[in-house]
Amino acid sequence: MTSPSTVLITGCSSGFGLETARLFLDRGWRVIATMRQPQADLLPRSDRLRMLPLDVIQPDSIAACLQEAGPLDALVNNAGVGMLAPLEGTSLTLAQELFQTNTLGTLAMTQAVLPQFRERRAGVVVNVTSSVTLKPLPLLSVYTASKAAVNAFTESLALELAPFDVRVRLVLPGRAPTTRFGANAMTRMPGQVPPAYADFTQAVFTSLRDLDAPTTQAIDVAEAVWRAVTDPTAPMRLPAGSDAVALAG
Ligand SMILES: NC(=O)c1ccc[n+]([C@@H]2O[C@H](COP(=O)([O-])OP(=O)(O)OC[C@H]3O[C@@H](n4cnc5c(N)ncnc54)[C@H](OP(=O)(O)O)[C@@H]3O)[C@@H](O)[C@H]2O)c1
Repeated sequence: MTSPSTVLITGCSSGFGLETARLFLDRGWRVIATMRQPQADLLPRSDRLRMLPLDVIQPDSIAACLQEAGPLDALVNNAGVGMLAPLEGTSLTLAQELFQTNTLGTLAMTQAVLPQFRERRAGVVVNVTSSVTLKPLPLLSVYTASKAAVNAFTESLALELAPFDVRVRLVLPGRAPTTRFGANAMTRMPGQVPPAYADFTQAVFTSLRDLDAPTTQAIDVAEAVWRAVTDPTAPMRLPAGSDAVALAG
């Protein structure tokens, strides 16, 4: 009997990462569920599950995690942070924080697994970006830029890794109010919206509370990641969630 394949997923403490870890476990994979602060009770007990600490913006944390993880068949770069604010009210420190996690964290994790994938001439990297890169939305300029950079990075990287039979793919989720993303993003909101943007910002916040608009569920993202990992014929960009699928046309 062949041993199960192994996937390492970043940002498994909640939302898409947690659901993706569950789905790969259910389907027989060995799962390395990583999070900044591991919490043993988040996932069902299994001898195919390991929980490891990982902060994607800390090089020492990445090195220690991958050393502990051993050989991988797939990496899912899901960890990410959001921010909804007018650019004029955004400090460069906050912008750097977003790029550090969403863009450079993804790049660093990918770089760290490539030697083993290239040497084995196998492996797949899936980067979770966002449907906001398909259709621009206001107050998300920095967040969108941090994710659009990952789209461009991934599509270029795919070309240089194809000769080594290493695949890279993108999953673009739509808006998912049920994850902790919005609440996590609130902690990164600048203290004060510039007065000139106050009404506009309020209108955007109100529109985001529209419960009738189509949204994305965590399981949509987990299924899209599953397809990106397991189906070599999957397209480069996989929208996840009915809103994202509609946007992708
Ligand atoms: N929800 C949406 O509407 C939406 C839409 C499109 C795309 N996305 C993207 O989908 C991904 C997952 O989002 P989600 O909705 O599941 O949000 P979430 O519930 O807030 O989960 C985000 C995860 O990223 C982790 N994380 C943040 N910074 C990290 C770091 N430096 N190192 C390691 N892990 C870190 C968080 O861990 P901690 O618990 O340690 O903070 C958490 O586990 C993100 O990349 C997000 O940008 C979300």
